[in-house]
Amino acid sequence: MVVIAFASLKGGTGKTTLTYNLASFWADSGRKVLAVDFDPQGNLTFAFLPPESLPEEAYTRWLFSRKSPQPFQVSENLWLLGSDNKLSSWDMRGTSPDLFLPSQLIRSLPFELVLLDTPTGWRPLTRAAIFSCDYLVVPVDPSPFAVAGIVQLVEGLVELSERQGKAAEILGVVVNLAEEHTRITQKVIASVKQLMSEERFLGVLSKSVRVKETVLERKPLHVLAPQSKLSQQIEEIAKAIERRVMRR
Ligand SMILES: Nc1ncnc2c1ncn2[C@@H]1O[C@H](COP(=O)(O)OP(=O)(O)OP(=O)(O)O)[C@@H](O)[C@H]1O
Ligand SMILES: [Mg+2]
Repeated sequence: MVVIAFASLKGGTGKTTLTYNLASFWADSGRKVLAVDFDPQGNLTFAFLPPESLPEEAYTRWLFSRKSPQPFQVSENLWLLGSDNKLSSWDMRGTSPDLFLPSQLIRSLPFELVLLDTPTGWRPLTRAAIFSCDYLVVPVDPSPFAVAGIVQLVEGLVELSERQGKAAEILGVVVNLAEEHTRITQKVIASVKQLMSEERFLGVLSKSVRVKETVLERKPLHVLAPQSKLSQQIEEIAKAIERRVMRR
């Protein structure tokens, strides 16, 4: 099992978008995938299903209850643990022993690939997701603060590993909302490659209204626009991740 969390300290960088599209892409490529929504906003859950259509035992909050949850099957190879606002109670009362529980339960489930969508910032739920994963993928938007955000995340991970004895490794960075012809996008791509090494630059996803439509229509980019550049970009990001962490 490989567990990958999508995390960034800044909001709106594309954590949910990448989790949704990559989980769907890998599932349709024949891998057995579990997507877990660790964000009480429930955006990932909404991307897969209409609100309130998830059975009680398929909510992420079960991961904190010492009972094995029952992920909900959304398509042939894809299962979901979803969230809603009730999960936020773990942001208020989550202490370290509780925050390690999801890791154990996730590892007991029979999946090849587990993708975690995390809330923005260093919240207890973000830490629970980080404790549960092997790798982090960090989406950034092309802003002057993108690199500073990555550095802060790395510093936070170092501190976490010093305190808890365990922290995931950053697998790489995706530059989302890219406008490739602009200087700021080019500069951010160059800075990421310089900071993280070439192989940790996992690719770009262009800025396009079609990306917003994927969630609205509950169809990932490779289904909604199979011949598009966006669909190709998702595939390239998937392949870059596969080269680093998957055997086939
Ligand atoms: N490449 C893109 N082009 C256009 N819109 C995008 C793109 N990527 C994401 N968006 C839109 O930007 C918004 C934020 O994206 P998303 O929800 O994936 O980010 P997030 O990091 O999960 O945000 P949050 O911090 O709220 O969890 C959404 O409305 C999404 O549809
Ligand atoms: Mg999100």
